[in-house]
Amino acid sequence: MSDTTPFPERYGAWALIAGGSDGLGAAFAREVAGRGMNCLLVARRQEPLDTVAAELSGRYGVEVRTLSLDLGAADAVSKLEKETAGIDLGLVVFNAGAEASGAFFNEAPFSIWRDLLQRNVLFLTEALHSFGNRFRGRGRGALIVVGSEAAFGGGARGAMYTASKGYALNLCESLWAELRPYGVDVQTLLFKIADTPTLRAVLERKGIPVEATGAVAVETLARETVVAIGDGPLFNYDEETPDDPLTSNSLRRARVLNVSVALEGFYGTDK
Ligand SMILES: NC(=O)c1ccc[n+]([C@@H]2O[C@H](COP(=O)([O-])OP(=O)(O)OC[C@H]3O[C@@H](n4cnc5c(N)ncnc54)[C@H](OP(=O)(O)O)[C@@H]3O)[C@@H](O)[C@H]2O)c1
Repeated sequence: MSDTTPFPERYGAWALIAGGSDGLGAAFAREVAGRGMNCLLVARRQEPLDTVAAELSGRYGVEVRTLSLDLGAADAVSKLEKETAGIDLGLVVFNAGAEASGAFFNEAPFSIWRDLLQRNVLFLTEALHSFGNRFRGRGRGALIVVGSEAAFGGGARGAMYTASKGYALNLCESLWAELRPYGVDVQTLLFKIADTPTLRAVLERKGIPVEATGAVAVETLARETVVAIGDGPLFNYDEETPDDPLTSNSLRRARVLNVSVALEGFYGTDK
């Protein structure tokens, strides 16, 4: 049976949403604010942050703070640590992570890929280490990482994006297994396509209407992901067949548990 404890008691008073100023990130903010959590919204542009903050505090009566920060900056995690030092932080959503150029790996300057790695890999890893430690120490918390179906494999025009999402998937599956004994939920969301401003900007370049893509509404994705917290590690929204070991939520969970038992046999404490 799913845990019906209100989120502020179950996890803590505050949620941090990295990439929380539009689309799916804003939908996550609405979802947790509707469950009584105060929100710290982070993105680069201040104006969209202010718009979502005003909406959340007006609609849900929660406290909302904003922080204009490039998550691809080398000191992004220490800035987030500083910003959250005095609050009862219990949930973090890692949303920002798209790659909109679709460039061939060797045709784009390496600086683009370095920036992608910094945000999608280095920032994510350091932030999961920092907030994972914090939540593990207090015995409760939730980490939601927005991934992509791209995590399941590579393809031309997706080299670095699929690689970074595959990295995040493996990391989060392992962390789910390592942190669950400490009362910390780790949830990875994978899906094909969602109606976000970033997607719309890409489609506009090609003159494709969003309706033609089958993009899911961000409210649906955010709600279903939050409902599925505690049932991790993976929430693959577009799971088509429950018997595909690559994409099935339950088969991947079973695999993570098996791998964890095997690695414990190799590396665990000697009896
Ligand atoms: N849209 C899709 O069809 C789709 C499909 C599969 C997976 N996903 C995944 O879903 C997540 C959200 O995607 P999205 O389409 O909404 O685009 P996105 O660009 O990843 O997310 C937009 C949000 O992130 C912020 N952001 C982006 N880069 C940032 C940075 N360097 N520092 C701080 N904030 C940053 C944006 O605000 P600022 O620009 O003001 O910083 C905005 O709030 C991503 O992880 C993506 O990989 C999306």
